[in-house]
Amino acid sequence: MNLIIAENYEDMSHKAANYLIEKVKKHPKMNLGLATGGTPERTYELIIEDHQKNGTSYEGIQSFNLDEYIGLAQDHPNSYYYYMCHQLFNDIDIKKENVHLPSGVAKNLEEECQNYEALITNAGGVDLQILGIGSNGHIGFNEPGTPFQTKTHIVKLTNSTREANSRYFVTMADVPTQAITMGIGTIMKSKEILLLVSGDNKAEALQKLMREDVNEQFPASVLKNHPCVTIIADKKALTKVMVHS
Ligand code: PGA
Repeated sequence: MNLIIAENYEDMSHKAANYLIEKVKKHPKMNLGLATGGTPERTYELIIEDHQKNGTSYEGIQSFNLDEYIGLAQDHPNSYYYYMCHQLFNDIDIKKENVHLPSGVAKNLEEECQNYEALITNAGGVDLQILGIGSNGHIGFNEPGTPFQTKTHIVKLTNSTREANSRYFVTMADVPTQAITMGIGTIMKSKEILLLVSGDNKAEALQKLMREDVNEQFPASVLKNHPCVTIIADKKALTKVMVHS
């Protein structure tokens, strides 16, 4: 795993946006794996700024998001489809038909998982997957204990994940209890992974990622088995790593 150290959230976001923009310029027909959450928000803003100023084009790009809440339709303000449209897609030239997220309201959710996995495979796989990390080490919504070979599947969200995400909802009761997520096996098939980590609330998770052996109780540890992972972490996230090393 390569580590790029950023000064702070802003610097991490610039480094991440530049990384992604350079890849897109070199490979204008690549398949991008995208993440939601607080971490990539500024990165997406910078990608929009670059698109507007420098004309970097996403016309040939296909995007595949990691996950979606079960029970929330695309037009629900808390759905990840809605998030992606408002944080990124509406302001770049990506084609709406090239934007892919699992549907959280599909009639047959098991079938939806299989279809989403097949969609990724048939498109040739994800070339660059952007990832965040949960404070419990989850990647996508793969919570601790998820077997490493999982494909796209339905998950029950842990209380800690629901609490962390409740900041986006009116009440805790509104936070969905289940989601569809790319599996750890799906994520590991990406040709390249870019993990973004920011803030002292992620310091312990990053320390575990750096120190612990690969184990299913800490899902992100699987990334050590991937041949091409870059971590961009800011100094607050690195406090526990840098103090002791
Ligand atoms: P965050 O979420 O970017 O909102 O911290 C990351 C995650 O839970 O994977």
